[in-house]
Amino acid sequence: MSLWGGRFTEESNVKFKKFNNSLNIDYRLIQDDIKSSIAWSKILLDVKILTRQEQQLIEKTLYWISKKYINNVKKIVASESEDIHSWIETLLINKIGIIGKKLYTGRSRNDQIATNLKLWCKRKSKIILKKIVKLQSVFLNQAYLHQNTIIPGYTHLQRAQPITFSYWCLAYIEMLERDRLRVLNVIENLNYSPLGCGAIAGTSWDINRNKLALLMGFSSSTKNALDSVSDRDFIIDVLSAASISMMHLSRFSEDLIFYNSGEANFIELSDSITSGSSLMPQKKNPDVLELIRGKCSGVYGSLLSILVLLKGLPLSYNKDFQEDKKYLFQGIDSWIACLDMSCVVLNNLKINKIRSKQLAREGYSNATELADYLVNKGISFRDAHHIVGNIVVEAIRQNKYLEELDLLVFKKYCVIVEKDVYKYLTLESCLKRKNAIGGVSPEQIKNSLDAVKTRLLHLS
Ligand code: ARG
Repeated sequence: MSLWGGRFTEESNVKFKKFNNSLNIDYRLIQDDIKSSIAWSKILLDVKILTRQEQQLIEKTLYWISKKYINNVKKIVASESEDIHSWIETLLINKIGIIGKKLYTGRSRNDQIATNLKLWCKRKSKIILKKIVKLQSVFLNQAYLHQNTIIPGYTHLQRAQPITFSYWCLAYIEMLERDRLRVLNVIENLNYSPLGCGAIAGTSWDINRNKLALLMGFSSSTKNALDSVSDRDFIIDVLSAASISMMHLSRFSEDLIFYNSGEANFIELSDSITSGSSLMPQKKNPDVLELIRGKCSGVYGSLLSILVLLKGLPLSYNKDFQEDKKYLFQGIDSWIACLDMSCVVLNNLKINKIRSKQLAREGYSNATELADYLVNKGISFRDAHHIVGNIVVEAIRQNKYLEELDLLVFKKYCVIVEKDVYKYLTLESCLKRKNAIGGVSPEQIKNSLDAVKTRLLHLS
């Protein structure tokens, strides 16, 4: 029988029952429901709805349920119960009878589900924080290894200026750091407990909601029951953080897909994380990266689904909310899987340093250096830019790099060019001179590596 059977004289339509049930999705809240139920039993003890013995029996039985079923999903979802709350309630009552029934005093599934979802989000957010830090440290390892690995830096997907692979890794460490701070913020916002709000207007029992909040690891309680039972902003928060972070992982994938392509071809993914084509024997495809890039759209879909789900809803609880879990779970599962796989990718890639350096040298990526050289000799940057443009055209005509041009050619375009120009035009000089904070110079990179290393040491 359902929890609300008393008011009804007819059995539920079979199709409606199936349509209405959510156990096959919300079984994942078992540990959160048990945590909040134990806290609730302690508060019922305070207001003398339960005796000490009754509370202890409830707590013990709830722990027993958790231990027995937490890893036995099949058993849970095989039940006819409507949702995880009713499933636990039925089991509890089957085990301890009337005492179990008392636990449901003063509590609604409306405040219960809002609480459980917050507990779930908090639990997952803490796991995600660790995964982000792990990925940052994998990037950091690569960054240490590749301080001297020069690769082309792109704008508009045109070779722009030389950078190092280390510098590229550090860029992603920065993005992940913003993701990490965003998750910390999400956790901070998850600190207020809705339990004790009842169905909509609060509870008639004289309970201490702040104490109840502390029992579950929240810092205090929410302020308005009407809002609390219909607030799902925290799901939007966590999926927004997920979406931004997935966008970073998707760009990371796209970079590597391109670096690995036949055209750029300066990184190689190990066989263990690539797959072949059923038709073309020569193919070795970067599926893992394409999947990370592809899964990003699913996470955006989750965020958008929740935003749309909530948009027109009147206060307070509406059954539409039941749909929130599948999007939340899917979005967070994908995020976690992609953080994990990004670590695997980074640990399984090789860089063809000769080719990456060669590509960095091509495309006149040292043209800005030549302009800077002229500026150092007293020419304004705009004029220098124009002169260098002409020199590049000449170099293309001669099919040469800038540094291969004869000094007389330089002089034809600008008499003040001297022999020292060649020193300016090396890749090493291009890197070394970018020495302001955040630049690609070896000194700046070393500073960044040390700072990140210290930060990560503090976090682990
Ligand atoms: N399964 C429901 C959900 O996820 C639990 C809350 C049910 N509340 C209600 N008033 N029907 O939202």
